[in-house]
This record gives sequence, structure tokens and C-alpha cells, in this order.
Amino acid sequence: MDPIDPGTRPLVDPQRGLVSREIFVDAQLYAAEQERIFATQWLFVGHVSQVRRPGDFVVSRMGEEPVLLVRDVDGALHVFLNSCRHRGMQVCRYDQGNATEFACPYHGWTFDTKGRLAAVPALREGYFSELELAHWGLVEARVAELKGSIWACWDAATPSLDDWLGDARIWIEEFFTVPDAGAGELELIAGVQKWTLPCNWKFGAENFSGDNYHNVSHASVDQLALSPSGKTGRHQYDAIPQKPVLQNIAYASTGHCGRGALYPPGFDFLSAYAAVPQLHAYYQRAYAGRQTQLGEQARFVPHGGTIFPNMSFSNGRTSIALWHPAGPETCEVWRFYFVPEHAPEAVKDHLRRYVIRYQGPSGLTEEDDMENWNLAHRASRGTIARRHPYHMAMGLGHEMAVGSEPWIARGGTVMEGVSEQNQRGYYRRWAQLMGAL
Ligand code: FES
Ligand SMILES: [Fe+2]
Repeated sequence: MDPIDPGTRPLVDPQRGLVSREIFVDAQLYAAEQERIFATQWLFVGHVSQVRRPGDFVVSRMGEEPVLLVRDVDGALHVFLNSCRHRGMQVCRYDQGNATEFACPYHGWTFDTKGRLAAVPALREGYFSELELAHWGLVEARVAELKGSIWACWDAATPSLDDWLGDARIWIEEFFTVPDAGAGELELIAGVQKWTLPCNWKFGAENFSGDNYHNVSHASVDQLALSPSGKTGRHQYDAIPQKPVLQNIAYASTGHCGRGALYPPGFDFLSAYAAVPQLHAYYQRAYAGRQTQLGEQARFVPHGGTIFPNMSFSNGRTSIALWHPAGPETCEVWRFYFVPEHAPEAVKDHLRRYVIRYQGPSGLTEEDDMENWNLAHRASRGTIARRHPYHMAMGLGHEMAVGSEPWIARGGTVMEGVSEQNQRGYYRRWAQLMGAL
């Protein structure tokens, strides 16, 4: 049986909003994902604040492949497979640093910051000077930058990053814009948190795509004063008295999606930071700047989303999650936390504390999420369970080309409130790339 043939195994049924459990547990499908998705799509690999100076490097990952993000001695960015062309050893064993060359720890082949094989021990007496160094540089991916975010792709036939993001590009531009929508960049703080989860990598990506429906699982966290508003609730915006209309936006052709809140004109944004004077003052200035820049559109507050296949972002607590595949039943999560580079230190520190008590392996909200994903995965592995697809049909057929405001969707479809539109778009794209539609 062909593991993917839609005739033998309907894996994703967009007409009915059904998704087979097989795609979360089957080893053959997992292997095919590495070929058809992770080897062909643009993948987020890091941020410019990690590699500012010539020679700066940081290890990253593309699917299962370890990679090295390097700024070469002339200032250009490269992404290399972190595997020696001799016999495969990881060329770089450090998480990050600054180097003028990478000497393989195994036999000493040495590569420069442009990935060229620059020196080989025993070149004359061992190789009789017959080794063509120019042919044995590090394997290199395409690399592209968008507002400080760095992406890489193995496939020369894939469109440029801009075209590949399509209309979803605005979510990345917005995410990496400082709160006052003005000059300056975000900067990464506190390194990258990395941990593994016993579930398929798609659970997290799907959840962040636009699952406003699962708030019930965060009921206990909502009773704590987790947010900088000082009120109950885990989000800073929970304290805003005017209630927004939630917006889910899906981009059908790419599988990317975003979600946010549209507030009425004149809403009180600053109550979100009322408990912390420094934060309140910072965001008061920042929001005035945002209104100057964006006018009417400043009242749309992005909450987050997922860029297919495995990069999720959350704007309110500014962080990025990468859901790396590590086997069909294991996900390695990487979390990046960002603050505005020019914000006062006290503001950065408050934001850091807030995001870490909210998200990541120690974050109270994400602990709820991880429990859901782990147990949903465990309960989906069995022979009987695998016969029964997941139901993702909420709102099917009610998608709108234009929502409350025409400037919100811009190329996508909108559903307001709770919906599984974004998840359907995500799995439709998965099925397209897998040849399963
Ligand atoms: S594996 Fe790198 S020099 Fe041999
Ligand atoms: Fe959640």
C-alpha cells in the first residue's frame, strides 16, 4: 500500500474537515514529511541579534538536520549543514560563538566562514595533493532575511521567501516591529530554551495557528494574576475593558495563518500594563507612536499565528516557537524570547519574567498545552484509535473573504470568534505538499 496515496488512505479531507490520526503517528508518513516538507520549505533558523558581527555563529536546526548559521568575515549570512564533508562529524559542537574557521574535531578538515574547505591535514602525504578542496565545502542552504528574522531553504526550486510567505508576510513584519512601530529592532534575550515533548511536531504548530477554542484548558491559569495588568487572567489584554472581536485569518495557498483582536475605536490599551509603572509608561509612549504610524489599523492587535510548517509566533508575549520533528512521536521545541532593543532595562526585565512564567517549559499556560498535546497523542496511537479521524470542521463553509475590516484579511479568509478554519488551511497545505489530496 502506498503510504500516501489518497485513494487508499484519505489522510486529510478538507471538504468534511477531517484529519486522519495516521499523520501524527505513522513512521512512513513521518519520513515522507522530511523529504516533501522540511527539505523544500523555508524554515526559520534564527535572528540577526544572534549573529551581529563577522564570524558570529549559532547552531540551529532545519527539520532533523543540524545547521550552522554564520555571518562570514565579509558580513554575509550563511546556513550550512553542520556535518563535515569528510565523514559526517558535527563541524561545530558549540551552541554559539565567534570564529574565523571551523575545524572538524574528528580529523581536522577546516572550513572558513564562507563554508569553503580551507585546510586538510595530510593533504600531500595522505591525499597526494589530489583532493579537490573546492568540491568539498560545507553543504549550504539558501538564506533570506526579513526584518531581522533569518530563514533558510534547501530547495532551489522553492519561490523566494517573500513569495513563499505571500500575504502572510505582514504577520512577520508586524511581529518584528517594535511596539511603537518605529525604528529599532527586537533583540533575543536569555538564549534559546530547548526541550522535548512526547507528541508529534504538528500538535504545537496547529494549536498556535488559531485555536481560540481551547481556552477552557487554561481555566486555572486564568485565575492567577499572571499578566502585567495585575488583574486576573494570563494575557495582558484580558484587562482591557472593551471586548474585541477575535479574528482568525488563513492563507489557503500557503498554509500560513494568524490570529488577533480587533478593538473598537478609542479602546483603553494601557490598562493591559497597569500594574507595572515602567511598562505602563513605555507602552503609553509606544502606543502613541503606533497610532501615529498605523492610524486606524493600530486597534488591531495581533495575537500570534503559525508559518507553515513549524514556526509559531506570539506577539503579546513576544516569542517564537519552533516545533522540530524528532521522530513521529517526539517533538523538540525551541523557544526564542524577544524584547525591544531600545526599551529601558526594567521593561526588558518585566517582559522576560512575564513571558517565562507564561510560556516555555516552565510557563504555566504552556504546561496546560503540553499536557493536552501529550495525552491527545498518546490516546491516538492505538489500532482502534487510528481508525477514527480528528474532527476539525468547526465553521466549515462560513469562511469570509472580508471580515469586519477589509484591511485585516488582505489575501486570506477570515473567521471571527472561535473557528478551526486556520487548522484546516494548515492541514490542506500539508496534504498538498505530501501529494495526499
Ligand atoms: S569527519 Fe570531519 S575531518 Fe573527518
Ligand atoms: Fe493554550
